[in-house]
This record gives sequence, C-alpha cells and structure tokens, in this order.
Amino acid sequence: MKSVNIAIDGPSGAGKSTLARRLAARLGFVYVDTGAMYRAIAYEMIRRNAESERDILAALPDLQISLRYVDGAQHVFANGNDVSALIRTPEVSMRASAVSAIPAVRAFLLETQRQLAKEQSVVMDGRDIGTVVLPDADVKIFLTAAAEKRAYRRWLELEEKKPGTQSYEDVLADVIRRDKQDMTREIAPLRPAEDAVTVDTTDADLKQSEEMLYAVCREKLHL
Ligand code: DC
Repeated sequence: MKSVNIAIDGPSGAGKSTLARRLAARLGFVYVDTGAMYRAIAYEMIRRNAESERDILAALPDLQISLRYVDGAQHVFANGNDVSALIRTPEVSMRASAVSAIPAVRAFLLETQRQLAKEQSVVMDGRDIGTVVLPDADVKIFLTAAAEKRAYRRWLELEEKKPGTQSYEDVLADVIRRDKQDMTREIAPLRPAEDAVTVDTTDADLKQSEEMLYAVCREKLHL
C-alpha cells in the first residue's frame, strides 16, 4: 500500500517538532525530524574541525547518518554513535544552518529522506520537505509564527534546561539571523510550497496549534 506523507515546513521555533511529533502519534505515523540530520552533520563537522566547504565535502563520504526509534522517540546516529543529546546547542544550531546551505550536504540527505517516506507513512518536518524532498506529499503545511514569539518560546526552553545560558535578546538575534540564512540561501530556501496550507501559531498555545494542524490533515486526508 502506498504510504501517506505529511510535510511540515517552517522557520525554527514555530513549534514544528513538538507538533509534528504529536500529529504523527495521533495518526499512527512515523515522525521524521530532518533538522536533526543536518544537526548531526554539523556536530560531526565541529568535532572533526571541518570548517571550510572543502573540508566539509572531504569529510562527507565517510559520514553515515541514520535514524532509529527508541521507545517511539527518534534518535539520530552519526557513524553508529547516538548524537541525539549533543545536537541541541546554539553552536550546533548555527552550524547546521550553515552546512545546510551546501548543495552536496542536501543531496547527501535527500535520498535517505525520500526512502524513509516511501517505506512508511510519515510526518516529516524541515525547511524544504513540501518544496523539494516530497513534492507529492498528501498534505503540506507551512507552520509559522512571529519571530518574537518564536524566540520567546526557544528562550523559555533554554531556561528550563540551562538557566542563564542566553538572554532573550540574543535568542531573538539568533532566530532572525537563522531565518535570514535559511530563507535567502540559493538552494532549497525556506518558503511555503504553492499548495501548502499556512498555519500561524503566534496566538495559539500547543493544544490549539495541534488542533489546527489536525483539522488540515482531516480535511486533506478525508478522515
Ligand atoms: O529544524 P532545526 O532547527 O533542527 O534545523 C536545523 C537547521 O537545519 C536549520 O537552520 C535549517 C536546516 N534544515 C534544512 O535546511 N532543511 C531541513 N529539511 C531541515 C533543517
């Protein structure tokens, strides 16, 4: 049977991963967080001191990125090592945004991502899922929110994990810088697919946002 694919794209901090995970659980689909794959590459490049594009390209052939699910949660592996707990730092975020602008890095992950969506029904989140990775996805959602709100949510998250790491102003500056980097790159820039439904979560809490996403899926999938 053909798998059902739901593509969710949008800027960082719009609630993509939390909402995509919840949506996948509700529909009985597998959640695929493609940002974690870019983060795993970024982490490995930092570890290997591969900074220039040339060094990164040279390091790619002996890098293997894979996903496995432990108790239903996605874990990302770089050459067999579980790096999931190491890829959520501000440093890795910035580097992930930079490495994801390199065409060879995107090509490196494209087939793996398409294969995952072919084998099973997925909710896949990222920046170019509806536009490039899964242009025939059954549902395409562009999830967004005002930059200030996204920065505030990210700052709260950081405060819970490690209080005092970054000020709200620094987080906002990072969000704006990363949005710009992701939206203006030449290859697969962040933008809504023509047939995507835009969902704005600026004034919605998690539960309301989840219901908005589920309503779009219900309509498109005739549930
Ligand atoms: O969603 P995230 O913050 O974990 O993503 C990390 C970086 O990876 C982000 O700056 C953009 C990039 N990315 C991408 O270019 N394409 C994707 N499909 C997913 C993430």
